[in-house]
Amino acid sequence: MNRLDGKVALISGAARGIGAETARQMVRAGARVAIGDVLDERGRQTVRELEKDGGSAIFVHLDVTSPDDWDAAIAAAVSKFGGLDILVNNAGVFLGRGVEQATLADWQRLCGVNLTGVFLGTKQAVPALRERGRDSAQGSAIVNLASIAGLVGSQLDPLYSMTKGGVTSFTKSTALEFARKGYRIRVNSIHPGVIETDMGAQTFAVRAERMGTNDVEAARELSLTSHPIGRLGTATDIANGIVFLASDDAGFMTGAGLVVDGGYTAQ
Ligand SMILES: NC(=O)c1ccc[n+]([C@@H]2O[C@H](COP(=O)([O-])OP(=O)(O)OC[C@H]3O[C@@H](n4cnc5c(N)ncnc54)[C@H](O)[C@@H]3O)[C@@H](O)[C@H]2O)c1
Repeated sequence: MNRLDGKVALISGAARGIGAETARQMVRAGARVAIGDVLDERGRQTVRELEKDGGSAIFVHLDVTSPDDWDAAIAAAVSKFGGLDILVNNAGVFLGRGVEQATLADWQRLCGVNLTGVFLGTKQAVPALRERGRDSAQGSAIVNLASIAGLVGSQLDPLYSMTKGGVTSFTKSTALEFARKGYRIRVNSIHPGVIETDMGAQTFAVRAERMGTNDVEAARELSLTSHPIGRLGTATDIANGIVFLASDDAGFMTGAGLVVDGGYTAQ
């Protein structure tokens, strides 16, 4: 018996990075997955890799800021796999500009993906998640990608941290709303430290620029020293946490935040 046997998951922003690795670990744990992203070719490639490993997966074009795209993605998952048990609101963007440098357009873009995307995904997946939650042992599950930047201040990106703080409290509020309504949908967030993905690399570049150098490797080393465990995180570290939160093993967890940060916020 695998952790996610019989479950169907929709993961936003899963063409690459943490989302793609989550799809891999979910398939390995027995789930069938729909991966949604704006990167169509990369997303299809990720699906081909999952299928090569014997997994059941589909790609759907999903811009998380579009209500129509969400409707189509949820309908595709339900029609292909018969329902929806798990939503992972993973799509996210980083900016890396101080308050004085950031423009209104920057802020609107961050809000669109990191906040509107989570709101729409949650709102529009509720009917399908409710349906499956009724007959499942521990209910359906939503996992939201927050960040350590949603728990403590960010040295690099105040606007990003504002959006992730929003995701953190939205997680708790929706957990309470769904529990009060008897929906059997658990909602939890995960809070990664710095993870070696494209977004992680973007943070190193911004840090290097702040240091007045092109030496991205030196910036990466500096970032590493903030993680007491002595290394940066991998996409697998985070995917493992997401699989746990989505599984029945986390059946008594809702409105919680799982911190996976190598000790960053313990200091
Ligand atoms: N990498 C880190 O250090 C780190 C740390 C904390 C939290 N996170 C969070 O984890 C999540 C995944 O990050 P990652 O490191 O894999 O980043 P990434 O940049 O590698 O992947 C993000 C994915 O989201 C997709 N995306 C962007 N805009 C989209 C949109 N409008 N609609 C659909 N998809 C869209 C991208 O195409 C990409 O595939 C994000 O929410 C991020 O904020 C990352």
